[in-house]
Amino acid sequence: MPPKEQQFGSHSVHRGGLASIARIPRRGLAMALLVRVVLFSSVITLILTVLQLTLSYRSERSSLESRFDEIDQATSRSLGESLWAMDSKQLEEQLDGILRLPSIRAVGVREVRSSGDTFIIFRGERQTSNAIVKEYPLVCCGARPQQIGVLHIEATLAEIYRDVAAQALVILFSNAAKTFLVAFFILFAVHHLATRHLRDIAGSVGGIRPDADLAPLRLRRSRIEGDELDQLVDALNTMRERLRRHAVELGNANARMAAILDNIPDLAWVKDTQGRFIAVNRAIAASKGFAGPEEMIGKTDFDFSPPELARTYLRDDAEVMASHVSKRIEEQHINADGSTTWIETIKTALHDGTGRVAGTVGVARDLSERKRAEEEARESERRYREVQMDLAHANRVATMGQLAASIAHEVNQPIAATVTNAQAALRWLSVQPPDVEEVREVLCRIVSDGNRAGSVVRRIRELIKKAPPRKEPFDINEAIREVIALTRGEAMKNGASVQTQLADGLPFAECDRVELQQVVLNLIMNAIEAMSGVSDGARDLLISTGNADPGWVLVAVRDSGPGVAPDTTEHVFAPFYTTKSTGLGMGLAICRSIIEAHGGRLWASANQPCGAAFQFTVPTRSDV
Ligand SMILES: Nc1ncnc2c1ncn2[C@@H]1O[C@H](COP(=O)(O)OP(=O)(O)O)[C@@H](O)[C@H]1O
Ligand SMILES: [Mg+2]
Repeated sequence: MPPKEQQFGSHSVHRGGLASIARIPRRGLAMALLVRVVLFSSVITLILTVLQLTLSYRSERSSLESRFDEIDQATSRSLGESLWAMDSKQLEEQLDGILRLPSIRAVGVREVRSSGDTFIIFRGERQTSNAIVKEYPLVCCGARPQQIGVLHIEATLAEIYRDVAAQALVILFSNAAKTFLVAFFILFAVHHLATRHLRDIAGSVGGIRPDADLAPLRLRRSRIEGDELDQLVDALNTMRERLRRHAVELGNANARMAAILDNIPDLAWVKDTQGRFIAVNRAIAASKGFAGPEEMIGKTDFDFSPPELARTYLRDDAEVMASHVSKRIEEQHINADGSTTWIETIKTALHDGTGRVAGTVGVARDLSERKRAEEEARESERRYREVQMDLAHANRVATMGQLAASIAHEVNQPIAATVTNAQAALRWLSVQPPDVEEVREVLCRIVSDGNRAGSVVRRIRELIKKAPPRKEPFDINEAIREVIALTRGEAMKNGASVQTQLADGLPFAECDRVELQQVVLNLIMNAIEAMSGVSDGARDLLISTGNADPGWVLVAVRDSGPGVAPDTTEHVFAPFYTTKSTGLGMGLAICRSIIEAHGGRLWASANQPCGAAFQFTVPTRSDV
């Protein structure tokens, strides 16, 4: 159904003019206009009246003065003759005639030589104020005219004043009446044509609510195309329609946002700058014990969280709003049953259309599950590392077992030499006198042999010892030399010659020394074992070190054995891959896991002209 057009009190529109004037508001535009019109026209009327009265006064006065001249022209001759004849009766009659003329109040004749008030004849009353006085010469007739007297005339201005005052009253009254009539007409017209519609418009615009489906505004009159009021009404109706559409769009956007919020399994909310919730999803409303999101709107954390916690939340919000940087908070909550819940909260500042901070947006999720998984992953990682260490240790012990015979031989040599030397020393002591100098020399050799044997045993113990891996810088060439010393006997036993090309000035390696030695030991042992199966040709073992990419050292162990087939260069690193009857197949797998744990790489390739090359990289100390 189309919305009904708004009409305003049409039942009262066409009632009498007076009734509608009575309804005109005392403080409206029409009344203001009325006051101004009355004031303005009163001032104009006053000015015009004064002007008109001045003009009228002047013209009356000049007509009075010209009447004097007429009297002079009409009477001076006969008056002159009467005066010449000293006919006082005649003079009196003549003066009485003049006195009867309008406004003339006094008239007199005096001799020309007399002065002041010595009149021959005087009629009427002398005027003391508001008077015009004129004197004319009286000339006698005859052959030689000469002035014989003076005609003195006095007229009063009081009548002119009375006329002017009466005129003023008429003008003022008529103008006032006209002004008031016109003003009231204006008042009525303005009210009828404009202000009542403006009030209707104001009432209608005041009632506009974006959510209400209001009818378009119509005035209490028929349309006047192109008239300002209809233009205003059209503009307002357009604005109202736009506002309504905007409200609909806003409603849709809000509904979309609510749908998005509700589909987030986490707790999600939007707060204003005062910490009041302005949008929340079902998840958080339910978690705070509300039946629905709308129940939580307008509340603050203080309404449902312990004050201490609410203050913390408020502080976090303020921090996020001040810094404009998102804040991630992980906190542990102790539940009533003693279990713990991990909550991760991410808060971000909310900005309005002008870029000003308008509040905060927050999302919180239960991290307990992830925390447990992380803990489990850490635990299994730790166990894996432990197993790896056990395995590496077992591998070291097994390799040492393999080397036992040759190492025993190695240790045996200095011990045997010590025995021989000790016997020689005894002999030098038994001669008379004992040759102390020889004894000293022999004892020095015993000490160095003992040290040699001791250092072999120490290295073996270090390799066999089960210690947690340590990352500390060490001289890689020195560590490799120690391994070569341990395997020298084994190499000799297998007829292999060991060559080294250890680069000078290498930066210190930064990894676990024992683990690195274990890798080198495994590679050397594999090389010796591989070459021992070759019946002819040289058995050359070359161990080299050098710089790799910046931050890395490269170690290579090359042999002249049968080599690794190109398609098995990766297989050899698989656990339990072995081609030996007594082999375990774990050596290279352990080596690779050790190197990779340090971030390096271990790979096999063909050696030139024959044999295999195993190379690996280890990180160097960063500040060297
Ligand atoms: N230097 C080498 N030359 C040729 N083959 C080798 C060499 N080193 C290792 N291999 C091959 O890789 C396999 C796996 O070596 P490894 O993991 O050390 O186990 P094992 O030594 O117990 O066999 C060996 O059995 C051998 O076939
Ligand atoms: Mg091996």
